[in-house]
Order: sequence, then structure tokens, then C-alpha cells
Amino acid sequence: MNQPDLIIDLHSHLLPEHIPDMGLPGFPVLTGDGDERDITVDGQFFRRIGRTSYDMAHRIEAYERHGVQVQVVCTVPVMFSYHLPAEPASRMARFLNDHIAEQQRRWPNRVISLGTLPLQDTRLAINEAEHCVHDLGLPGIQIGSNINNRNLDDPELFEVFAACQDLGLSILVHPWNMMGSQHMPDYWLPWLVGMPAELSRAICSMIFGGVLERLPDLRVCFAHGGGSFPFTIGRIEHGFNMRPDLVATCNEVNPREYIGRFWVDSVTHDPQALAYLIEVMGADKVALGTDYPFPLGEQEPGSAIRALNADSETNARLFYRNTLEFLDLPEERFT
Ligand code: CO
Repeated sequence: MNQPDLIIDLHSHLLPEHIPDMGLPGFPVLTGDGDERDITVDGQFFRRIGRTSYDMAHRIEAYERHGVQVQVVCTVPVMFSYHLPAEPASRMARFLNDHIAEQQRRWPNRVISLGTLPLQDTRLAINEAEHCVHDLGLPGIQIGSNINNRNLDDPELFEVFAACQDLGLSILVHPWNMMGSQHMPDYWLPWLVGMPAELSRAICSMIFGGVLERLPDLRVCFAHGGGSFPFTIGRIEHGFNMRPDLVATCNEVNPREYIGRFWVDSVTHDPQALAYLIEVMGADKVALGTDYPFPLGEQEPGSAIRALNADSETNARLFYRNTLEFLDLPEERFT
């Protein structure tokens, strides 16, 4: 096994131990004691989480046992709070960002922290992006695949992305607010069917809306292997060629040209799908991600990559180097 000494997990979620009830409708609250916490929204139970979700010292021990040295941590998307009033949502973002940055400060060679922005308000979002970089030293942020059903080609979001490019702040796009959820409430379909579609929605919006074209230095990574995009790029390109009147309305560049411009994580749960993903996206653009500590994540970190039996150069890329390039971080910090 040509496995490198350094393994970085690009995709994992961390919460504070407690989130105070701010007394506002629709805000997630984290309560409980002992080893478990409950996330509730408006008194409605959302999810029960264990100690690895909020106790960083405990968590580092746990992922070291699985051979992971470093985790990139970001909040759980239910905390995005995009649908809530901007002012309190920005206070929530500040609270989460200050907390997650503290973890990186305490364990600089074990934790990389990503922030969150109140994207329902352009000015507040840019303020928070500046806080993330200048005051907290965060290398990136996590955003939703749509923002209250505004797609990622939205002109106001473009202003935020332009600020991120100027600040050198990388963007991890995570599925959220899954399309069609209300029409398929059973069988966990929003997660199993909606999530892969959300990523393709996000990638296509950034490509066809000209975001990647106009912001050539913006670093973007899409979670969950880019969802259905890599597996339907043939169809997407064919649509671009056959109906440019519908597809190429904002950007005349073939969508395939953007492969190599952005990263995806390795969360595919299928070594064959992962091999294809690497073939399509390039071995320099796929990075180990697990979605730790959630049940839909890869339970044994890196197992799909190991099943590929790749050479040591490719493994170094997949296990850590691509993540460091996406986040523009030096390898020396972690070795
Ligand atoms: Co996730």
C-alpha cells in the first residue's frame, strides 16, 4: 500500500458543545448533557449527535485511530440559517466562526477550520468573510448549493465570491435545501436523490453563469464528488452544443473546459465510481473527504481510495496534497 504519512480529510462537520437559544424562530438550538446533544429547530427534533460531533480533543483521538492526521472542519448545513433574518443570522455565523477558528488555533497541525457566511445579505456576508480572513486566519468557507433557492450564478452572490477571490478565501460547496424535498419525503430521498442533483445544480450554475470564467483565481471545491455532474458531463456538454440558445446565454465557453478549474471530494461510496471520478476530474482535483461523523459518510476513511491500489504519487494527491492546494496551505504546517 503506497499510503502517504499525511492524511487529511477535506469534508467533516463540527458543532459547538452548546448553541444558546437566541429566542428567534427557526434558529437551531443545541441542548443536552452527557455524551449526546440534540439539535432542535422550533422545538422540533432534527438530529441527535454524539461526542465526536462537538468535542474536538475526543474527536482527534477518534480520527487518529482511523489513520487520519488532519481534519478540515466546517459547521453542519442546518446551521447556515440563510432563510432567517440577516442580522441575527450574521450573529449566528459570527458565533460559529469564532468557535471553529478556536479549534484551529488550539490544534494548528491537526485541524483546519472553514467558516460560514450570512449569504442572505451581501454586505454582512462580505464583512464576515473579511473577519474570517483578517481576524480568524481561516483559509476557506463552506456555503450551500443554493441560497434560499437562489442559484450560485446570482449577481449578489457574485459580489461575495469576488470578495472571496480577493481575500484568497477558498469555497467548499455543500448540498443543502435539497430540490424536490417536499415531493419525496420518504426513504431519505432528499439525501439519496436530491443531494447529488444539488451539486450538479451548483456546478452548472457557476459554469453557465460565468462565475468561474469571471473569477479565474477563485478556488472552489464541490462536496460529495461533485454529485451527478461528473457522471452527466457528456449530457451537459451535448446540451450546450445542441441548444446554445438555452444553455450558453451567459457564457459561451464549453462546460468541459472548466474541468480542472475546481476540486471535488472523494465521497462516492463506490471504488468504481471513484476511479471514474478521478478519470474525469483529474487526479489533481479529487481529495479525500468522509462527511465525518455522519452516517452517510465514509465510515472507514480512505477505504475507497485504498481499493484503487493507486501509485504513491496519486495517493499523495488524493490523501492530502489536493486539499492543501485547494486551501492554499503549506504542507510544512502539518508535518
Ligand atoms: Co457533509
